[in-house]
Amino acid sequence: QESRYDAMVNLHEGEISRAIFSDAEIFQEELEKVYTRAWLFVGHESQVPNPGDFFTSRMGAESVILARDKKRKVHVLLNSCRHRGMKVCQYDHGNTQLFTCPYHSWSYTTDGKLFGVPQYKNLYEGCLDKEAWSLIEVPKMAIYKGTVWASWDKDAPDFLTYLGDARIHLDLALDCRDGREGGSEVLFGVHKWVIPCNWKFAAENFLGDTYHNVSHRSVDLIGIGPSAEAGVKGRRDNELEKARHLWVNFPAGHGVHSAIMPESWEFLDTYRNNPIVAEYFRHCHEERKLRLGADKYRLVPFVGTIYPNTSYHGNQPRSLCVWHPHGPEATEAWRFFLVDADAPQEVKDFLRVYYMRYSGPAGMTEQDDMENWNYATAGSRGVIAKRYPYNYAQSLGKVANPGDAPVPGHVSLQVSEENPRQFYRRWRDYMNGADWDTLLGGKDQGPASLAA
Ligand code: FES
Repeated sequence: QESRYDAMVNLHEGEISRAIFSDAEIFQEELEKVYTRAWLFVGHESQVPNPGDFFTSRMGAESVILARDKKRKVHVLLNSCRHRGMKVCQYDHGNTQLFTCPYHSWSYTTDGKLFGVPQYKNLYEGCLDKEAWSLIEVPKMAIYKGTVWASWDKDAPDFLTYLGDARIHLDLALDCRDGREGGSEVLFGVHKWVIPCNWKFAAENFLGDTYHNVSHRSVDLIGIGPSAEAGVKGRRDNELEKARHLWVNFPAGHGVHSAIMPESWEFLDTYRNNPIVAEYFRHCHEERKLRLGADKYRLVPFVGTIYPNTSYHGNQPRSLCVWHPHGPEATEAWRFFLVDADAPQEVKDFLRVYYMRYSGPAGMTEQDDMENWNYATAGSRGVIAKRYPYNYAQSLGKVANPGDAPVPGHVSLQVSEENPRQFYRRWRDYMNGADWDTLLGGKDQGPASLAA
């Protein structure tokens, strides 16, 4: 029997209802059906290096604390007092021995245990089991190359199973520039801002929607890259045009855009204004080639979204962005900029300025995107407009999964809406309350079966 969501996500016609981007009831169901099950990015270990360090994050619409306890173990705890729900941690980050609730002063240790209850002997002895009233901790937590992920579903598959072959691409964002595994840290504070848009427009954009590049035409004209000259194509642009671009999606709903650079790919001297930065990136390029080999090092990441709401920029800028759902028409964007932890300070300073210029609330490209998502969300709510679905038919049935694809997954060699179609296929399945076998693609692998 067809469900409400099957009707809204019509993949055979490539049509998706506008209501899923604006309806308050659907939004509430998303919080209950998507955000209580999927693996969500919470933060980075480098944000909590020492015992007692904490970083206040979000999972779905709820506040959580990423904390490192006295024994150095990392925890993800719901930031809500067990007494009446007050936030026990009101700071963005810091170091503490106890989270003390401002309301009636119950206090919790950094592993979430209820520690102090005012007037305990008089009021609670014999009627409060402190152990049972600890902060709520996520049942599933994983640390992967420094990134911390969590799920509220105790039956969720382990994180690497969930990530699947999208790992190859995410790794390129998380690993050091010279090809060493991991070794990145979050550079300075996290950029946080609220966009009047539905979270799915942002997540979808990072699945590899290069079709929207026209939106950034003004940025191209001005020139924003490290060596960009306004309105002039650089060597990098030419190499990118010769690269083999890949749009890849995965059974769990993730999607990425990466490219294989041409064999002639060499280091581009793009940081001439700063010899230390130039030398650093030259060293990384050559070291990467030696470490990964002449073929593998040419795989370059652009963007991707790990279902449902964690996106990344893989190259320059290198960052993770989380689209926290606030409401059907409000999304809180968080951008975590990544840098090699052992990079020279000059490189970190250079990247700090470049990252801010490129993305974040004042970044030149992000402003273009935000305007699009803002008006797309508004366009999803009109009484008349809502009678007409959105078109997701780009390359529908046309893009075969090439037999010689150089990476695993469902690969398109031209821009297509296969990635968003796969994303919304899984969105529909979560909303239908599907089991994990289905959510991991066990029964419906996606585009390949659709094209058949
Ligand atoms: Fe936290 Fe009462 S709400 S102690």
